[in-house]
Amino acid sequence: MKMWGGRFRQTTDPEFQRWQSSFDFDRRLLSHELAASRAHAQALRNAGILSSDELIAILQGLEQIGARAASSPIYLEDDEAEDVHHFVQKQLVSLIGEVAYKLHSGRSRNEQIATDLRLHIRAGIDQLQSDLAVWLDVLLERAGQAQDAVMPAYTHLQRAEPVLVAHHLLAYVEMFLRDSGRLADCRKRLNLCPLGSGAVAGATIALDRRAMAAELGFSCPTANSIDATSDRDFVLEFVNALSLIALHLSRWAEEMILFSSEEFGFVQLPEAYSTGSSAMPQKKNPDLLELTRGKVARVIAAANALMIVTKGLPLAYNKDLQETQEPLFDAVVTISGLLPLVSAWIKAAEFNYGRMREAAETGFMNAWAAATYLVHRGVPSSLAHEQIGMAVQLCLEKGCGLDGLSLEQLRSLNPVFDKDFYACLQLDSVLAIHDVIGGTAPGRVRQAISDAKQKVEAIREEIHVPA
Ligand code: ARG
Repeated sequence: MKMWGGRFRQTTDPEFQRWQSSFDFDRRLLSHELAASRAHAQALRNAGILSSDELIAILQGLEQIGARAASSPIYLEDDEAEDVHHFVQKQLVSLIGEVAYKLHSGRSRNEQIATDLRLHIRAGIDQLQSDLAVWLDVLLERAGQAQDAVMPAYTHLQRAEPVLVAHHLLAYVEMFLRDSGRLADCRKRLNLCPLGSGAVAGATIALDRRAMAAELGFSCPTANSIDATSDRDFVLEFVNALSLIALHLSRWAEEMILFSSEEFGFVQLPEAYSTGSSAMPQKKNPDLLELTRGKVARVIAAANALMIVTKGLPLAYNKDLQETQEPLFDAVVTISGLLPLVSAWIKAAEFNYGRMREAAETGFMNAWAAATYLVHRGVPSSLAHEQIGMAVQLCLEKGCGLDGLSLEQLRSLNPVFDKDFYACLQLDSVLAIHDVIGGTAPGRVRQAISDAKQKVEAIREEIHVPA
């Protein structure tokens, strides 16, 4: 039996029926639908709508549905089910008879789908937080292993200043820590229970909404039934947070692609995560990284789709909202598929520290340190900048580095230059002068690694383990 057939004289067009059905994709909400139904059934019992026996029969039926779905995927092949809510009702009726129809007393699918989606995202966030923690662990492990290895840092993709490889990895750690924070914020905001909101105006039976919320681990009931049944902000917020994760992964992947090219040669592609060419026998291609970069498109597209679907909707529930599900599911599947793979990739990749050091030693990346030498001797910064710029020009003409200029040549630019100037040009001294919080001086970087490890531990402690 349909959930709404009574007032219709004509049968539904089968083509339309199939087309508007969401069971193909909302079946993944089944466990949440069952949990929410259990909470609703309890509330119906407390409101005197169900007898104890009826409650027991319903709860047992719901449990059986869950067990069957878990043990045989064919159980979910049901062409007649309009959506996951209808599927559960149909199965419950076939298991326990007409008493099953009592479960829908006082509730609407509008509040059910709003509840299921919140539960789905909440579980998704918990899983993603643990995947992010693993990814952060691996980044930090690599940062620790890199010790005092150096590489060039780029601005405008031109060599800028030498940094520790660990410092570069820590830049990504910061991005993903922020991503984790966004997910935590989103979880807090979405953790409210729509059950009892009815179709739009609130349940028609005096249900204990606080009890239902507590039963499902929500912090409290939603405050307004019109909003609760039509709100999908939490879906948008979540998928936008996923877009940022995708974006960060994509930027990282792009760098690894560049760094693994012959031209950079900083990173050796791990064979287990690379592919060959069917034409060019010598090729080893960074497909994992390229697909990571490519997949950001679908996550951003999902975030866009969600905004477009919801932007013109009058209050409250409209069927358009069904279209928010697939972009959401696709975005979660995409990111949760990516995180374990990038973690495995970076674990297996080999860094060519020798090449990185060579690159860090050339390109006048000690020029700012050289200017700072003058600043410490009282030269106004802009004049120091100008004079070192002229020194660089001289080097370019002579084909040497700043340390290739004689003291005489240097003194022709500014008489304060002395023999100790040459020491300040060395890579180690250049790194050491960036001795500020967040800078690349080795001691600062070691501290940053240990601070970040603590933040990852805090993420782990906050992860909600399903009851
Ligand atoms: N499958 C529907 C959705 O995802 C469930 C809610 C249906 N509500 C309704 N009034 N037709 O939005």
